[in-house]
Amino acid sequence: MREIPKDVYRKAAGVLVSRGNAVALTGAGISVESGIPSFRGSQGMWAKYDPAEYATIGAFLLDPEKIWMMFSEMMGVLEKALPNAAHLGLAEMERMGILRSVITQNVDGLHQAAGSRRVIEYHGNPGELVCLSCWKRYPSREKIAGGIPPGCECGEILKPDVVLYGEPIPWGAREDAESEALACDVLLVIGTSAQVAPACDIPRIAKEHGAFIIEINPEETSLTRTVTDIHLPGTASAVMGRLVELLENTRKEPNLSH
Ligand code: OAD
Repeated sequence: MREIPKDVYRKAAGVLVSRGNAVALTGAGISVESGIPSFRGSQGMWAKYDPAEYATIGAFLLDPEKIWMMFSEMMGVLEKALPNAAHLGLAEMERMGILRSVITQNVDGLHQAAGSRRVIEYHGNPGELVCLSCWKRYPSREKIAGGIPPGCECGEILKPDVVLYGEPIPWGAREDAESEALACDVLLVIGTSAQVAPACDIPRIAKEHGAFIIEINPEETSLTRTVTDIHLPGTASAVMGRLVELLENTRKEPNLSH
């Protein structure tokens, strides 16, 4: 990975301070350094579990016991994970008054654990289980403690309240995310391959409405050469750590921002 020149960091920090009113869109890459595998790539979840076989609503309805093997492995990993410097950096930016919200495709709860207050969970939250037959909901922890796969009192197998392929984005989350994309002046896109719709439309919506796009990802994505204004090619924790440090300095010495 090539080193990011100092002036690129300074430019990103300057834009964040001078424009403010930033929103972050995060994906699995932000949580890799918390020990949670991403989805794509040779080490990703989808290398082990074919999403067509394990991550569609049709697959769940056909064989929920099978899909619960994947869910229980994922939940075991999520339970042990702690926020890293990137999650903590976003929470700090919210406290500084620079960041208005985080839109996350992740279901790991690490933004909230880091102290972010305004978090839009675009792909749901596994803290609750839902019955697709009678729509009764249960807290995950106590139901799962009773055995896997957890069942509803009506007899059906429960589903974690996360979005599978073929399911709609929760209505409120989709609406909130779109209004944040329309309202922001800077969008920080961190650790997403931007391959899954409709989340991958958020950067384009923001850009079309005048937002400056800062992308943090060790790799280039389909956004990098199309909508991204500044690409910081490093890991989320390293880049966010440096960026937050610079934001603090820039705010102390406002002549650095332009
Ligand atoms: P992906 O696995 O598609 O992409 C992860 C991105 O993170 C890649 O672009 C990596 O280059 C980048 N990355 C890896 N390590 C990183 C690090 N340490 N710091 C920063 N970036 C890093 O994950 P998502 O884009 O989040 O949806 O995937 C989107 C959706 O696809 C998920 O929410 C999930 C999945 O299928 C559903 O299951 C509905």
